[in-house]
Amino acid sequence: MAKKEQKQATALSALLQENRKFKPSVDFTKQANVRDSAIFETAAKDPESFWAGFAEKLQWDRKWDKVLDWQHPHAKWFVGGKLNACVNCVDRHVQNGMRNKAAIIWEGEPGEQRTLTYWDLYREVNKFGNALRSLGITKGDRVAIYMPMIPELVIAMLACARIGAIHSVVFGGFSAEALKDRINDAQAKLLITADGGFRRGQLIPLKHDADYALRETPCIENVVIVKRGDFPLRIKEGRDHWWHRLMQEAKSYCEPESMDAEDILYILYTSGTTGKPKGIVHTTGGYLTGTYATTNWVFDLKPSDVFWCTADIGWVTGHSYIVYGPLANGATQVMYEGAPDWPDRDRFWQLVEKYGVTIFYTAPTAIRAFMKWGHEWPSKYDLASLRLLGTVGEPINPEAWMWYHEHIGLGSCPIVDTWWQTETGMIMVTPLPGLTETTPGSATKPFPGVNADVVDEQGNSVPVGGGYLAIKSPWPAMLRGIYGDAERYVQQYWSKWDGVYFTSDGAKRDENGNIWVLGRVDDVLNIAGHRIGTMEVESALVDHECVAESAVVGVDDELKGQAITAFVTLKEGHDADKKLEDRLREHVAAKIGAVAKPKEIIFSANLPKTRSGKIMRRLLRDIAAGDVLGDTTTLADPDVVTKLKKHYEEQYGV
Ligand code: WTA
Repeated sequence: MAKKEQKQATALSALLQENRKFKPSVDFTKQANVRDSAIFETAAKDPESFWAGFAEKLQWDRKWDKVLDWQHPHAKWFVGGKLNACVNCVDRHVQNGMRNKAAIIWEGEPGEQRTLTYWDLYREVNKFGNALRSLGITKGDRVAIYMPMIPELVIAMLACARIGAIHSVVFGGFSAEALKDRINDAQAKLLITADGGFRRGQLIPLKHDADYALRETPCIENVVIVKRGDFPLRIKEGRDHWWHRLMQEAKSYCEPESMDAEDILYILYTSGTTGKPKGIVHTTGGYLTGTYATTNWVFDLKPSDVFWCTADIGWVTGHSYIVYGPLANGATQVMYEGAPDWPDRDRFWQLVEKYGVTIFYTAPTAIRAFMKWGHEWPSKYDLASLRLLGTVGEPINPEAWMWYHEHIGLGSCPIVDTWWQTETGMIMVTPLPGLTETTPGSATKPFPGVNADVVDEQGNSVPVGGGYLAIKSPWPAMLRGIYGDAERYVQQYWSKWDGVYFTSDGAKRDENGNIWVLGRVDDVLNIAGHRIGTMEVESALVDHECVAESAVVGVDDELKGQAITAFVTLKEGHDADKKLEDRLREHVAAKIGAVAKPKEIIFSANLPKTRSGKIMRRLLRDIAAGDVLGDTTTLADPDVVTKLKKHYEEQYGV
């Protein structure tokens, strides 16, 4: 066995030997939203009634005729039903006696505070809905959003939903180039941005960056800019409009569009195995039902809770568990603009104490950073308000789980390790905090009504052991397609097995039926919980004038889960040196965003290829991981690897 496989196998058996068990306390269970484990069976027997039960808790303009129409791989949920997502997240709470309840308690990185009640949110989304209409936006139009984590981002999304426009949020950390591609792919008519935002004390000049994208996005007719600070920018008369000016003129009531349950609510781009990100399409009725249900049950959400999901809204976690799920539930939540270590490493715990956060949802990469910084930081604060913790984005290592449990949960908060994807729209595999006995590192069992399974190559269920994570029945928040690419949808997700959704994740099931998600089996990397395709990074590198060829692999990283190692072959006449290495790194950041910067760049005259010319990434991974090389017999030129390995060892001293 190669060293790498051995290492993996050891890690796996270590995981599977993890037998610390945590039962929910009697007190927690007594008050939990879900207390009866019979629900798993009830939901499995009749998932449609189960999901319809949640849909009934939403406000519909017209009730559906049929819960599910499944012509695989195309699902329609709540067929014939009509509703508006913004009305469900805002208006109905205002009408139901919650107009004065805090919806969003926001804190900016420099320390400003703003609280928006449901009434405030109602006023703002109405006015901004009218502002959008005044700029000619109507039902079905695409609106791109490129913003920092400020309340206007939520308002913009909900205002789009209100008038039936489709939002496409692009993470503020992405580059102008990435923004441009996403705008053009969706053919967005309008861009909403801000002059800038704050991150780790730095000003991020979003509008200035967006201007580069706007040179090559002819579909954009208007740009709306929120004034967040005093960021330098240029205004293009006729095209660029200040948010606050539009709001001054906007009327206070905006009639919501009655949307079909299957009308598109949003598009969100995510990385896949090709260089081109996929626009994942989510629709209205099923998505809202799925996020409403999972927020309520997984986080055990109560009206009195203060919920805090630390994700950026630019990723799906923010869409589902800052915007739609919590707001559909009428939650009070904290929203924070900046970094966890600004001005110091205790910022999150300071916020937890200050706002009395009760439910805290973050990513393993953040937990590993907290762990590294030391428990002195959280221990300075009173964290007793916390009653439930969650994680998402990547597998959590048991040490990090235990640290979270002890130092943040003070030994008494249940932890929900939630597995899901941009494509699933909602949490799919997770503990239910009042019911499930948890084990550090396992996301445990599928949510009731979700038919997730561990299967082998042929698609047969694996009762105990390893395989792929697959989903065997449709679920309400599932993606409905890839924007503008019907074929890729079928091919990517539904062609491995007949009528079964392929998640691209490897998983194991233990004797207790618990699922352990092991990570991606495709060429998608998970860098600090962010999805980046190896092909995207390779395309960015090859785009540089000096680069002839490149191959990108992921290597284990203590903090980020994975980091990027890039192997690069230069065009003749260019010399490999530190300066060029830095330039290439910056080039990738400019093409995709800082999240995609390679940690290591290895220059090589040749890359190992099979006789048919395919780059053997497996060997490159071995080299980058400092492992014994696997089989090299299929190589066209076996010498290349030996040289490369030697070169790598010299460069990185492994
Ligand atoms: C990984 C984020 C293990 C997985 C919501 C998945 C996880 C990808 C977990 C989706 C978890 C997410 N345990 N792995 N609890 N949650 N993943 O689309 O590989 O950004 O396929 O959605 O993250 O990433 P995405």
